[in-house]
Amino acid sequence: MIRFFYKKVLKPILFHMEAESVHNLFVKLGHRAGKWKLGRWLLGSAYKYKGPTVEKTVDGIRYMTPVLLAAGFDYNGKLAHILDCVGFGGEEIGSVTARPCEGNEKPRLKRMIKSQALVVFKGLKNDGVDAIIKRLKKTKKPKGFVWGISIAKTNDPQSADMAEGIEDYCYSFRRLNEEQIGDFYTINISCPNVHGGESFTTPDMLRPLLTKLREIPTTKPVYIKMPIILPWGSFDELLSLIDSFPIKGVVIGNLNKDYTDADFPEEAPANYRGGLSGKVCQKLSTDLIRKTKEKWKDRFTIIGCGGILTVSDAMEKLEAGADLLQLITGMIFEGPHLMKDISKAITKRESFHS
Ligand SMILES: Cc1cc2nc3c(=O)[nH]c(=O)nc-3n(C[C@H](O)[C@H](O)[C@H](O)COP(=O)(O)O)c2cc1C
Repeated sequence: MIRFFYKKVLKPILFHMEAESVHNLFVKLGHRAGKWKLGRWLLGSAYKYKGPTVEKTVDGIRYMTPVLLAAGFDYNGKLAHILDCVGFGGEEIGSVTARPCEGNEKPRLKRMIKSQALVVFKGLKNDGVDAIIKRLKKTKKPKGFVWGISIAKTNDPQSADMAEGIEDYCYSFRRLNEEQIGDFYTINISCPNVHGGESFTTPDMLRPLLTKLREIPTTKPVYIKMPIILPWGSFDELLSLIDSFPIKGVVIGNLNKDYTDADFPEEAPANYRGGLSGKVCQKLSTDLIRKTKEKWKDRFTIIGCGGILTVSDAMEKLEAGADLLQLITGMIFEGPHLMKDISKAITKRESFHS
């Protein structure tokens, strides 16, 4: 019934509206609904997973379900009190940056419907780390719900400079640790749509960043959000470097940039280019998860992200070696029941294996 309503009624209406306006509308509605008991109850009745336990402890953090909302949807932390009601065990808030950032010029978000992808050219729009800390301090954290915080560098000419860029990351990381906000942190080194490009995705660039971050005391697990557009050799070089730092794991991974990977590249907007989410990320990320697990065994916690559009896509990432899952595009294209369906499938998978 809920699936039918989303796919046949709501989605056709929403997909006729401009993508970023729909996103903003849902953040506004979710933010309000989360403040009312009735709102939480209604959403929870429809979408919260309530079956046999799928609890999992990763790096000392207990997740009620291993399905998390990926960075970029709740970039200002306005949904941090409600997402447990739609079947998520946690989320990555952000990416947050040292200074507030308006993002790139609009339009900057588009659906490629037949390709099951989104073109993302947001450019790290967010209120800035200090405002987000203030908001989260006032937010009632749902019991058992995990807040990860994704950290990136401010998307402006000032932080395009290498030293300034590193200081930008360090400022946010320091402030979050000082205020003890966030259960884990992810360093987003691979945002494709910013001034100065993906400057930290080579070992020579990443080393000074991780060296500076290491000087800031933290008691929380730290992960790196990896690019998925690198060949295995270069990806593995990054892993070798990361291995020498106190980094617990990797999120694999960020957006794809290769439009020829899309089933229908002609759906791309003519006037701007952004990173691609959804189906175009699926194989690249799953292959990198598998190779990372094969080579590095349990050295890295692996958070599988990219193109989880169905339950079987989620299972494939777990089979490949992912400890946790993250998604955005599947929730938009399939509907918010996807998270609950994945949890249900996990219980079957585990009883099947036991
Ligand atoms: C609208 C949108 C905004 C995003 N913004 C961020 C971001 O700020 N930081 C980040 O690390 N990833 C960001 N991403 C990438 C996602 O976290 C994720 O890696 C990617 O979308 C692949 O997952 P999916 O196919 O399930 O959407 C964004 C993705 C989307 C769709």
